[in-house]
Amino acid sequence: MDQNSGIVRWQSPSNIALVKYWGKRGKQLPQNPSVSFTLSNCRTETSVQYEPSDVFGLSFRFEGKEVPEFQAKIQAFLTEHLYSFPFLERMHLHINSHNTFPHSSGIASSASSMSALVLCLLDIERLLKGEKDIDMQRASYYSRLASGSACRSLFPKMALWGQTEVRGGSSDEYAVSLDKEIHPIFKTYRDSILIVSDAKKAVSSRAGHALMDNNPYAATRYAVAKKNVAELLTALKKGDLERFIRITESEAMQLHALMMCSEPSFILMKPNTLRIINNLFEFRKETDIPVCFTLDAGPNVHILYPDQHAEMVERFIMDELERYCVDGHWIPDQVGEGASRQ
Ligand code: PMV
Repeated sequence: MDQNSGIVRWQSPSNIALVKYWGKRGKQLPQNPSVSFTLSNCRTETSVQYEPSDVFGLSFRFEGKEVPEFQAKIQAFLTEHLYSFPFLERMHLHINSHNTFPHSSGIASSASSMSALVLCLLDIERLLKGEKDIDMQRASYYSRLASGSACRSLFPKMALWGQTEVRGGSSDEYAVSLDKEIHPIFKTYRDSILIVSDAKKAVSSRAGHALMDNNPYAATRYAVAKKNVAELLTALKKGDLERFIRITESEAMQLHALMMCSEPSFILMKPNTLRIINNLFEFRKETDIPVCFTLDAGPNVHILYPDQHAEMVERFIMDELERYCVDGHWIPDQVGEGASRQ
């Protein structure tokens, strides 16, 4: 093989937001800052084989099969950003992608898949230029352009995306790592993802963000989210679990409340989502275990808790909550190390 052909492989995880990004402006810029846990078990593994070609071209396989919908998304992103990656103009890419979690689990895979793809592209660029390593800030920047919250997936443990005066170096254009700024307890967090429905999302996140443009509570929401980020960063530093729980659950509720008062409106929770949340409140009251929940823009429930309570919480999930999951399905995940070369 000459130096214009080869193969690169990266894996990148999914992430779960604690303070939610919901509403955007301009080119994939967030209306408010957001904070997330980087996950570990739910990830995308991508390889890109590249070879010289007269024109830019790509073939894409997901789980070994062609998926025209995904291929079109990747093609559109790369075509739009060809000027940033001029080497692609004379290259054909064979992209192979695989998720470690079931595609039908209702877990958004665009964060993990688009960040893994961007890392592969930057790695090809690095090899062609003979550079030592890729710049993760730049990888986060392009991941954001490919799929908003994907920019937070690259970093170990936790990430902050969006400008906030309480954290120097924060930016609307890329995420930054919070790994060195959080109390050790948060590095041990588990996320048990309870699959209440494995149906395709009722509203795409693109449509969801757009609904915020005319939401009557938008300005208040963005102000509250900014305040929540500042408060959460303090709680994360101090290891203040009470504050962490209050903000995290309020953010999940707000995301769903915003959808309920959008035009048109959507109820994204299912009856079993509410059963799980109410059961969790009771369990927390009875045991005093600092366990809480968050939700994505869908009905599945993420149960968050420190590692030291894993035995009790997992027993509770199996005894009381599994019955509300599709075929008893839940995914044990935990805070992870971010993206890496494979
Ligand atoms: O990155 P997007 O466009 O899929 O939007 C993500 C939106 C939420 O998952 C609901 C919140 C977030 O911050 O991840």
